Amino acid sequence: MNILFAASEAAPFCKTGGLADVAGSLPVALAEGGDNVAVILPLYAQVDGAWREKMTYRFYTYVDLAWRHEYCGVFSLEHRGVTWYFVDNERYFRRAKLYGEFDDGERFAFFSRAVAELLPRLDHMPDVVHCNDWQTALVPVYLKDFAVRREEYKRVRTVYTVHNIEYQGWLGEETVTDLLGLDRGWWNTGMLQMDGAVNLMKAGLMTADAVTTVSPTYARELRYPAFAHGLESVISAVSHKLTGVLNGIDMVSFDPAADAALPANYSASNLRGKTTCKAALRRELGLSAEKGTPILAIVSRLVGHKGTDLICQVFDQMMEKGVQLVVLGMGAPGYEDFFRRAQERYPGRVASCITYSDALARRIYAGADLYLMPSRSEPCGLSQMIAMRYGTVPIVRQTGGLNDSVRSCQTGQSDGTGFVFANYNAWDMLHVIGEAVSLYGSEGFRTVRRRCMEEDMSWGHSARIYRDIYGKLLG
Ligand code: GLC
Repeated sequence: MNILFAASEAAPFCKTGGLADVAGSLPVALAEGGDNVAVILPLYAQVDGAWREKMTYRFYTYVDLAWRHEYCGVFSLEHRGVTWYFVDNERYFRRAKLYGEFDDGERFAFFSRAVAELLPRLDHMPDVVHCNDWQTALVPVYLKDFAVRREEYKRVRTVYTVHNIEYQGWLGEETVTDLLGLDRGWWNTGMLQMDGAVNLMKAGLMTADAVTTVSPTYARELRYPAFAHGLESVISAVSHKLTGVLNGIDMVSFDPAADAALPANYSASNLRGKTTCKAALRRELGLSAEKGTPILAIVSRLVGHKGTDLICQVFDQMMEKGVQLVVLGMGAPGYEDFFRRAQERYPGRVASCITYSDALARRIYAGADLYLMPSRSEPCGLSQMIAMRYGTVPIVRQTGGLNDSVRSCQTGQSDGTGFVFANYNAWDMLHVIGEAVSLYGSEGFRTVRRRCMEEDMSWGHSARIYRDIYGKLLG
């Protein structure tokens, strides 16, 4: 099977969030299973020189977006069994950041149309094109549009994955003809239209042959307004083709036994290196060396839906439970200030790193004992899985992928891998942090930690589910 993955970011080339981890590792897993897999990405300024040196220039063409006639260069490289294509247009992709530009709609309409136009010119004509989030939601629309007139497009099938329904991509009605270059029929039939505007995510959901989201629990939650951000009616209209598939993590990149970013390596059977990592983390971040005190870590965007408000609400009571706290992340200025202040108020006990660094994140996953993720909603969440892989026991709220990846150990279940609370309530969270802290240091805690490290979070199982979905579409 020839599979093309279309995404707006993929590790290790360009990354702002979890989508990059998925687009960087699921294709590799599919290729390991024997499929012919390629990924197509924008060639952002942020893709660094070392990768650019490995690229081969392939060809250029022009892509028309309504009245625009835009240059489109194509580069490629081979990496981990996958062909990675890069779409070059410096006007659109040589920017200070990946997203958040005034013309994001135009930039990703260009990218999506380019992907669709390029299919027959790639090394292998894809059987399945797998698109992700609002940035590539127009790809299935264009493919369906082209298939009406162009024979080579008739066999192509599409999968659309929702990584986070909160970010939908809204454009004005006039863009249908003036930017997207589509017939008004796409608007009149309701494929693009949502509340009087163009909604790209709706377009992807409506037009793709199959729809997936990144955990089974999130797939169920999306039926409810509290989770669907206005798209609940669309979700119910597409429920016959919707599947929740839990993400995996890249077990090679995230491996405490081999991770070069750590001061010492370790594994489930020999945890001495983890003790070294904890001591080194305390020195690096100015935390005091308190024997028997667990380090509780948070690596997260500091925004509301990650549950940051719960943490602020009971912060002092949480510190009274006897933890040291490490926070890494950026986000809403109010939360950033809160954590900076917290470090001043708790010298030697709280370390707030208001930045983002992949290497520091790894040292934190390795050096901490507990990992807090109280999200209000979490489509999948990858950091709880990375924390587990590094032997750091998660404390999570029972939602989305957190519910599907962490099993509660509180009620004496013999296979628990973490601490779970159900209600979005700061005091419930606090209670569970208390349970985790009291188990810390015991044989029971060591057992839970070992189970976390031995958990299979690889892509193997989920890659098989995706392959089944592709296979069914191809008949
Ligand atoms: C988004 C979601 C996150 C998920 C990731 C990868 O970032 O918010 O929960 O893990 O996509 O699918």
